[in-house]
Amino acid sequence: MASVPSLASTVQQRLADALSAALPEAGSADPLLRRSDRADFQANGILALAKKLKGNPRELAAKVVEAIGADGELKEIEVSGPGFLNITVTDAAIVRTLAARAADERLGVPYAENAGTTVIDYAQPNVAKEMHVGHLRSAVIGDAMVQILEFAGEKVVRRHHIGDWGTQFGMLIQYLIEHPHELDHQGGEVSGEEAMSSLNRLYKASRTLFDSDEDFKARSRDRVVALQSGDEETLALWQKFVDESKIYFYSVFNKLDLEIRDEDVVGESGYNDMLEETCRILEETGVAVRSEGALCVFFDDVKGPDGNPTPLIVKKSNGGYGYAATDLSAIRDRVQDLGASSLLYVVDARQSLHFKMVFETARRAGWLNDKVHAVQLAFGTVLGKDGKPFKTREGETVRLVDLLDEAIERATAVVREKDVQKQLTEEEIADRGTQVGIGAIKYADLSTSAARDYKFDLDQMVSLNGDTSVYLQYAYARIRSIFGKAGDRRPAAHPELELAPAERALGLHIDQFGEVLGEVASSYEPHKLAAYLYQLASLYTTFYAECPVVKPAPPLEVAENRLFLCDITARTLHQGMALLGIRTPERL
Ligand code: ARG
Repeated sequence: MASVPSLASTVQQRLADALSAALPEAGSADPLLRRSDRADFQANGILALAKKLKGNPRELAAKVVEAIGADGELKEIEVSGPGFLNITVTDAAIVRTLAARAADERLGVPYAENAGTTVIDYAQPNVAKEMHVGHLRSAVIGDAMVQILEFAGEKVVRRHHIGDWGTQFGMLIQYLIEHPHELDHQGGEVSGEEAMSSLNRLYKASRTLFDSDEDFKARSRDRVVALQSGDEETLALWQKFVDESKIYFYSVFNKLDLEIRDEDVVGESGYNDMLEETCRILEETGVAVRSEGALCVFFDDVKGPDGNPTPLIVKKSNGGYGYAATDLSAIRDRVQDLGASSLLYVVDARQSLHFKMVFETARRAGWLNDKVHAVQLAFGTVLGKDGKPFKTREGETVRLVDLLDEAIERATAVVREKDVQKQLTEEEIADRGTQVGIGAIKYADLSTSAARDYKFDLDQMVSLNGDTSVYLQYAYARIRSIFGKAGDRRPAAHPELELAPAERALGLHIDQFGEVLGEVASSYEPHKLAAYLYQLASLYTTFYAECPVVKPAPPLEVAENRLFLCDITARTLHQGMALLGIRTPERL
């Protein structure tokens, strides 16, 4: 395995060398290289440099050009405008670089230089509650980040911080004690749907009783105390709720084609043993103070509407611990026991204030510092077509499973319709329909910047035109089908050939894959990978229209070189989509 420097980085390095050769007084100035429409690249770093050295930018640029000179790699370098450099690389350099990528199973993508350990907190639904579209976002974005970080060489520890603790369990358990057979199933394996529907039923029934019956309310409160003090019978029943919910969670994750491992599910309850100590440390170090009986952390810049400071409450006045104490304990665990250098939280933007306060508290306590940092990858709200938070017509939260099923149904129809020559079997149609439908949902989520709200629009998601996963999947399948038609012609790189503009554009884009991945891994922005892949498919479409591969048959070398471009495009698409958690069927 060998990492292959991109042409951009090679050119950047040559420019930097030429800059310091031509102008020793410039030191290590950045040539600021960008892709450009005029030429392949444009460097505009000389402008700032000239200002600094009080020189004429065009003259400085000319000096740099002289110091570089064209060769087998650089076809042309010219001064333009006020002192930009326009740089064109040779066709041979493009093909050679791509050939080096093709020879590597990682497509020449380097590992990150400063890889560490990231603990990522994602896919965290709540026990005894239906999953909603927010949980979908966390799971899909989180899974993509896991794949992307691991591919970059980062050690990744996954944590599913499920909501499995809290006062509501007093009510649920008490109800179950009084109605012991409510969670029983009649033999056989329990489906996720069945598990959730019995949990729902139980939840509603106990809620009704809790709200109407004061005695039940009191018994439920006592039950919370029993749960917190570790009473065995109570804990066993609590475990029943957790297990039943997991059946449901796994069925949804499975449908979403996400691998969630049981050992990575460490819910809120997993930190119970640490809560007291966490509070003690915070109080002893003066990070938290007593205020009206509660243990609180205050911040200068966090105030309520009345102008009074809003504290982070780590221990309530009644002695109970909440969400904050758990998250602070989880930080200690992740940093001190799991050895994290980065903590990444894929959580709804509406929890941003919570995390801001939790992170700041952890910094004051010294658990987070210059070496260990925490980031919330905050995502926006999923909206309905009407632009309002996604709800059913009756105003209820939409069940995730229903959405997934509908997406699969629509995608299956698209696959069936596209298969005009009736080449696919029913089983293949169902299979592809699932991959296309789930891919559509994931891609829609991953292709807009996570922070933004997005509209959940199935019609758009499974559309064959535009920025959708189906478009990318078809591009991939089409490339694969070309190999079936190519007869005995094989992909082979031919650096001696002159390239058509569409071939150059495609080649230069493929060459950027590693850089894009590096950026996506460090900025936690998977949408940039989606955008890259969409552009790759678009450039391929242009190439396909302008540069015949099979018919009309071009000269042998040209055909081989084009097949080579097809092959590396397909591999890049496949790898990129896999990192987003999306399947690319070979045939569609
Ligand atoms: N269970 C929470 C919810 O459904 C998300 C948990 C986020 N992670 C955390 N460490 N607080 O909103």
